[in-house]
Amino acid sequence: MKCVDDFRLRFGKRELVPIMIGGMGVDISTAELALEAARLGGVGHISDAMLPTVTDRRYKTKFVSIKQKQYKLNVHQADKSIVQFDLAQVAEATRLHVGKTMEAKRGDGMIFVNCMEKLTMNSPRETLRTRLITALDAGIDGITLAAGLHLGSFALMEEHPRFRDAKLGIIVSSLRALQLFLRKNSKLNRLPDFIVVEGPLAGGHLGFGLDWAQFDLRTIVAEVQQYLQAEKLDIPVIPAGGIFTGSDAVSFLETGSAAVQVATRFTVAKECGIPEKVQQEYFKASEEDIEVNLLSPTGYPMRMLKNCPAIGSGIRPNCEAFGYILDANGNCSYIDAYNRERALYPDARRISVKDKICLCTHMRNYDCWTCGHYTYRLKDTTRRNADGTYQSLTTEHIFRDYQFSTDNKIALPA
Ligand SMILES: Cc1cc2nc3c(=O)[nH]c(=O)nc-3n(C[C@H](O)[C@H](O)[C@H](O)COP(=O)(O)O)c2cc1C
Repeated sequence: MKCVDDFRLRFGKRELVPIMIGGMGVDISTAELALEAARLGGVGHISDAMLPTVTDRRYKTKFVSIKQKQYKLNVHQADKSIVQFDLAQVAEATRLHVGKTMEAKRGDGMIFVNCMEKLTMNSPRETLRTRLITALDAGIDGITLAAGLHLGSFALMEEHPRFRDAKLGIIVSSLRALQLFLRKNSKLNRLPDFIVVEGPLAGGHLGFGLDWAQFDLRTIVAEVQQYLQAEKLDIPVIPAGGIFTGSDAVSFLETGSAAVQVATRFTVAKECGIPEKVQQEYFKASEEDIEVNLLSPTGYPMRMLKNCPAIGSGIRPNCEAFGYILDANGNCSYIDAYNRERALYPDARRISVKDKICLCTHMRNYDCWTCGHYTYRLKDTTRRNADGTYQSLTTEHIFRDYQFSTDNKIALPA
C-alpha cells in the first residue's frame, strides 16, 4: 500500500515531498507554519493579505497608525475613494515579511506567497503590482495567485528578472477559468509552473456559487488533466479541498496529480496563526456548525463557522486604517450595509449588520472563523485533555501523518 512519501513533486531537477500547505490569510498560514513545511521538504505558503497590518503585529512597524492618522478626517465619510495605500509602505511591509521568512528558511522545501488578488486596496493594479514585484525582489521561491484570479497578473511581473525562474502558479476551480488564463497569457510565452485545482470543500473564499455541493474535485481535476494532455502541456496539477488523510492524497497522486494542497488539518497546528482559544472552536465544530454564505464583501462565497463573532457584528468600517477590500472606486459592500443600518437606527449605541461582514477588521482580529468543509473531523485528529479541551498538534506531526499514513488512518499525537 502506497503512502504520499512514495511520490515526489518535481519542479525541473528539484524534488519535493508532494505536500503543499495552502495560503491562509490573514496570517493564519504564518511564517512559522510555512517554514516547517519547507524544513520537512514540502511547500509552505505565507499569505500577502493585509501585510502592513501583519508586519505591525510581527515586526512592530507602524503602517496602520500612519495611514489611520493620515485619513482620520475621513472616518465619518461614506466616500472612501481618497483613502489610498502608500505604495512604498506596501512594498516595505512585503519586503519585511517575505525577506525575514526567506532568511529563516531551512531544509529542502520551498516557500511561496499566496497572493490574494481580491484585495483590491482602492487601486487594484498598482497595489497588486507592488506586492508581486516586491515579493520577487525579497526572494520568495514562488507565487500562487489566489481568489479572484487576475488574468493580467503575470504581465504585471513580466519585466522582473525573476519572472522566468520563480515558480508562478494559479488557483482555479474550473477548466474554463484555466482556459481563460492560458488564453490571456499566451503572448507572454510563460506558462504557469503549477495549477492548483481547488474544489468546493476548501476553506476561505470559494470559486463556486451557493450550489457548491453539486461540484466535485475529482471531476474537475480529471477535466483539467485531460485538457492539458490534449494540449500537450506538461504542467503539474495540484488538487485542493477536502483532502483530509494521507490516503486521500495518495488517491490523487496515483491518478496523475503532482502534489496536493491542504490546509484545514493545519488550522489546529501550534505554528498556525489562529489563537489557541479559537482553535478549540474549530475542534468542537460539528457539520451543522459550518456554512457557506455570502457575507464576504468580496462577492465570493466563503465557508465559516456559524458562531464566529464577525457574523452580525455592526462595527464601524475601518477603511482609514485598513481598506483592503475597497474597489477601484473606494467602495465596499460592508460600508453600504453598515450605512443602511445606521440610517435605520441613528440613536442606537450598537447596531447589527447581518448581510455583510467587515472582513478587514474581523480577519485581522481572528474573529471571522473561515474554515474548510471537513473542519468537523478535526476532533478525530487529536486527543482530549482531562478538562475536555483538545490537544493542539505540531505542524510536523500533521505533515508527517499526511506523508506516511496509509489505510485512511490518522495518527494521534503521543
Ligand atoms: C482557514 C483557511 C483560510 C484560507 N485562506 C485562504 C486564502 O487566504 N487564500 C487562498 O487562496 N486560499 C485560502 N484557503 C484555502 C486553502 O489554501 C486550501 O486551498 C484549501 O483550504 C485546501 O483544502 P482543505 O482545507 O480541505 O485541506 C484557506 C483555507 C482555510 C482552511
